[in-house]
Amino acid sequence: MSEEKLYLYPVWLRIWHWANALMFLVLIITGLSLQYSGVEGTFIRFDIAVKYHNIAGIILTINFLFFVLANRISGNRKYYRIKYKGFPKRLMKQFRYYVYGVFVHEPKPYPISEKRKFNPLQKLSYVMVMFVMMPVIIITGFGLLFPETNIENVFGLSGIYLTDLLHIITGFVLSIFMIVHIYFCTFGKTLGSDFKSMFTGWH
Ligand code: HEM
Repeated sequence: MSEEKLYLYPVWLRIWHWANALMFLVLIITGLSLQYSGVEGTFIRFDIAVKYHNIAGIILTINFLFFVLANRISGNRKYYRIKYKGFPKRLMKQFRYYVYGVFVHEPKPYPISEKRKFNPLQKLSYVMVMFVMMPVIIITGFGLLFPETNIENVFGLSGIYLTDLLHIITGFVLSIFMIVHIYFCTFGKTLGSDFKSMFTGWH
């Protein structure tokens, strides 16, 4: 069944994905440089880091809007729909596979098919990342780019400080996601087969 060749990653999705990954790397590197800049100097010169962080953020935003639109038009969004009934149970089954089953060569509980591209854990993490955290990091990013749009005072705290805090926390969580995501992509048929799929489109 799972040996069947499936075309799961159309060209638009692959372009979106690799552009997104590249912008992410630029944002993480420049973002870390900005975060840890001090009087003694920085990893990347401050003004250069700001410039490339802003440019990459704008490209990421346009790319994200393209992802949302293309998902709607192409029908790829069906893979992101969560059926809540029994979902916690399915999550646990997949979790058990990742911490135990995979090491004793058990068959995958939710093998990829034309109807199901993601296992329950993948689905939950992709939905959280793409439809919760990406909007948060984009909106707070624009809030920092246009500081005058921030509420001045929120319960005695500066609005811009809160926007910045939310931006940094989301950036940190997304960076961790990226590392975990890459690790889980090695769980394919071979170590590199999932990565190859994201270049060729074929699973
Ligand atoms: C160098 C960094 C990255 C690598 C090597 C990588 C690798 C991959 C691979 C191999 C797949 C196909 C397997 C699968 O569907 O799970 C995939 C899918 C996916 N990746 Fe990544 N990824 C990277 C960064 C990111 C980032 C930063 C995000 C989001 C913030 C992301 C979001 C996704 C999503 C949503 C999918 C599923 C797309 C779909 O089929 O609808 N990836 N990634």
